[in-house]
Amino acid sequence: MLSVENLRVVYHDVISVLNGISLSVRQGEVLIIIGANGAGKTTLLRSVAGMIDFYDGDIIEGDIKVGDSSIKGLGPTDIMRRCGLTYVMEDRPVFWYLTIEENLGAAAFSRWDREVRKDMEKVLTYFPPLKSLRHKKAGYASGGEQQMLAIAMALMTKPRILLLDEPSLGLAPLVTEEVFGIIKRLNQSGISVVLVEQNAHAALEIGTRGYVMELGRIVLEGKAEELASNKDVREFYLGSGEKSRRSYRDARRYKRRKRWL
Ligand SMILES: Nc1ncnc2c1ncn2[C@@H]1O[C@H](COP(=O)(O)OP(=O)(O)O)[C@@H](O)[C@H]1O
Ligand SMILES: [Mg+2]
Repeated sequence: MLSVENLRVVYHDVISVLNGISLSVRQGEVLIIIGANGAGKTTLLRSVAGMIDFYDGDIIEGDIKVGDSSIKGLGPTDIMRRCGLTYVMEDRPVFWYLTIEENLGAAAFSRWDREVRKDMEKVLTYFPPLKSLRHKKAGYASGGEQQMLAIAMALMTKPRILLLDEPSLGLAPLVTEEVFGIIKRLNQSGISVVLVEQNAHAALEIGTRGYVMELGRIVLEGKAEELASNKDVREFYLGSGEKSRRSYRDARRYKRRKRWL
């Protein structure tokens, strides 16, 4: 459905961040991408969503395809309209001074049809907490509610593929569970999902397949349950390895030996 082929991305012409990433997203799956801070996960999503140039980044090699056609070089609105691919950025980008409803209306900017109101009601059924807050300003909503709103806004674009950047960041475990439950239900309704997460544990539970990124490369890939039981994944991303290689230096030495770094 979506494929990334040997993607290389640099910022400011010199900072090389993605060093040949290839991956594919299959129709109907929840693809998980995990990896340490700075691995390039956000850069990957920005590149796929057509937003890398806003950050002074460039795709210097490789291609991104939806189906058979390349989307490299298209802007985010084109990618959204033509390919049904919508990106929910990290840090819950919602308009604080608009109400929940107004946020949802604003998110439908790329559409011309008259079904916006109807779709808003449909979208809200996935997010019970938002329903009761619909006339409240988003700035007063909790972190979890804002995250739900950010996802709800993405749904107003009627995506077929949803890219989510660390939706669990800063949320309490129970709220994370609620948000992930919603993501799962959205997936069951037919939306393919790419989920970038630090919270590897919760993510791998709802995922079908996953990739592990380190320093701009893919170092591991597999089915979600395989990754969840993989010894290295458990140690570095789930914090539950048998042997504790606790110091930062030890961890780096180990990863280097595995040729991840
Ligand atoms: N706009 C930018 N300009 C320069 N460097 C950037 C920019 N955005 C991110 N980076 C750098 O790229 C690397 C990868 O960042 P990012 O994609 O945000 O990683 P992740 O999401 O995995 O934490 C980091 O070293 C980061 O400092
Ligand atoms: Mg990030």
